[in-house]
Amino acid sequence: MDLPKSFRTFNREEQEIFKEILANRRDVRGHQFLIKGIPDREIDQILEAALMAPSVGFSQPWEFVIIKDLETKLAIKNSFEEKNQEASHLFEEKKQKAYDDLKLEGIIEAPLNIAVFYVPSKEPVLGQTAMPNMGRYSVACAIQNMWLMARSLNIGMGWVSILDAEKVKTILKAPEDRELIGYLCFGYTDGFYSKPELELKKWDKRKLWKEVVVNGKYEVK
Ligand SMILES: Cc1cc2nc3c(=O)[nH]c(=O)nc-3n(C[C@H](O)[C@H](O)[C@H](O)COP(=O)(O)O)c2cc1C
Repeated sequence: MDLPKSFRTFNREEQEIFKEILANRRDVRGHQFLIKGIPDREIDQILEAALMAPSVGFSQPWEFVIIKDLETKLAIKNSFEEKNQEASHLFEEKKQKAYDDLKLEGIIEAPLNIAVFYVPSKEPVLGQTAMPNMGRYSVACAIQNMWLMARSLNIGMGWVSILDAEKVKTILKAPEDRELIGYLCFGYTDGFYSKPELELKKWDKRKLWKEVVVNGKYEVK
């Protein structure tokens, strides 16, 4: 069967732009969001980017809940507060203070929130038969597409994971089988940090290439 092909290639300049988008993407949190709303055409582009993501067996196991109303955001924020209080104690004493000083969400400040759900399949999914998490990873691919598309539109995105997923499901009236993968906050920002905020605040360092790239096989120590 002769299937249609695209012969689009990308020149050096386009490759550099793509790299720039990757390098300048940041997680954006509360204090950085501007009050300015996001036009629908920009929201549509972010969602289109999500729908272009790869997925195991082309299963597209995702759903996106668009949230703008304050009441819903307040209920979600409430879940964040509960989970965040629990979290602080999990870190060693030195880090607890640093943790408490971090702003780890922008639920209310961001004009747009999107909850991204995984929709498990009732039938076997091509490619997911040996590794059952592949559908969830596919949803993460969609989220990364959204993050990069938003950045190219000069819109910040923050991923909030300090939440009670079941409470979020209840608040959003999600069907029983749905799984929350990401709760995302979007908005224009007063500037993107030059490096991850957690790096600038010395919470952690970026790992070196040699720490994470293995040539051939792991060495037995
Ligand atoms: C799966 C995932 C969950 C995350 N959850 C949170 C979160 O709950 N709160 C937060 O402030 N940042 C969260 N982040 C953002 C990371 O802290 C951030 O990506 C990391 O510090 C690197 O910074 P950068 O994204 O600006 O490069 C999350 C990121 C990922 C990929």
